[in-house]
Amino acid sequence: MNKSRQLGQTDLYLSPLGLGTWQYSTKNSSGTSETFIGEVTQRLQREEALATNPFIASKWFPLARSASSITKTIDDRLEYLQIPTIDLYQIHQPTSRSSLRKQIEAMVSLAEQHKVKQIGVSNFSAKQMVKAHHLLQEYGMTLASNQVKYNLLHRSPEKNGTLEAAKELGITIIAYSPLQQGLLTGRFHEQPESLSKVSRFRKLQSNLTTKTLQRTEPLYQELKRLSLNYGMTISQISLNWLINAQGDTVLAIPGASKIQQAQDNVEALNFDLSNSDIERLNRISAGL
Ligand SMILES: NC(=O)c1ccc[n+]([C@@H]2O[C@H](COP(=O)([O-])OP(=O)(O)OC[C@H]3O[C@@H](n4cnc5c(N)ncnc54)[C@H](OP(=O)(O)O)[C@@H]3O)[C@@H](O)[C@H]2O)c1
Repeated sequence: MNKSRQLGQTDLYLSPLGLGTWQYSTKNSSGTSETFIGEVTQRLQREEALATNPFIASKWFPLARSASSITKTIDDRLEYLQIPTIDLYQIHQPTSRSSLRKQIEAMVSLAEQHKVKQIGVSNFSAKQMVKAHHLLQEYGMTLASNQVKYNLLHRSPEKNGTLEAAKELGITIIAYSPLQQGLLTGRFHEQPESLSKVSRFRKLQSNLTTKTLQRTEPLYQELKRLSLNYGMTISQISLNWLINAQGDTVLAIPGASKIQQAQDNVEALNFDLSNSDIERLNRISAGL
């Protein structure tokens, strides 16, 4: 079963499945999902409904910004989230006005002030990720994680060296879009007409087209077969593959716009696909 996993080489242990929070933001308003998460966790704490404090991760957006904004904007983040320390703070992507060294120095200064606990990156290539890790080592830290797109229909991290380097250096891979934005739940294969309700942006991002449904039919059929065998949903099979196919290296953060989806997804922690079923899924998805 899927017990807590170490985040990189840090002293933090967390569930292999988290909750993506993109779904709680609006397009043009900065801090919306952080404010939502802050309010919800405060309310749950007041109601004594939380067994433990939730592990909170957030990101700094580097595009067209320099490293000085890391220190300038952190207090806003903490205020939105209503917490004194962010567990994991990530550089959202590799393009910034400042060098990576300057960005890492600013991130380390936040750790020294106990405003963040651990440092991660997102959308970094293997080479950029290794560089970030080595820079952090100069300051006595390690890179906790790299958040990248990874799922049964998007296995680039296995091919571009990211996963291999992460395993070698003990860096956690946080898989975003783990359900390929709904494609790996089976719902579009079951109701192709529902594709028409999906936004153009999402269709583009995840290649949500009728052609894709046809191409991925063999995988859908295998997921359906496994779903019947294990008595689990297709989403749960897809997520279980992701958190088990690479040992303890991968954590996933499925998004959910409905409570029932989050409840469905979290159940993926309660079983293990067999090695032979993982291998079969590997083979079928590689052949698409
Ligand atoms: N670092 C980055 O650059 C980056 C980029 C993208 C995403 N992310 C993060 O990754 C998180 C997850 O990625 P994502 O939202 O792109 O994709 P995802 O998790 O693959 O898909 C989420 C969507 O799939 C549907 N869904 C989820 N669970 C379901 C279930 N059990 N049954 C049926 N449908 C279900 C929902 O669609 P409906 O809402 O239509 O029902 C949901 O909004 C985001 O929330 C965000 O935090 C990070």
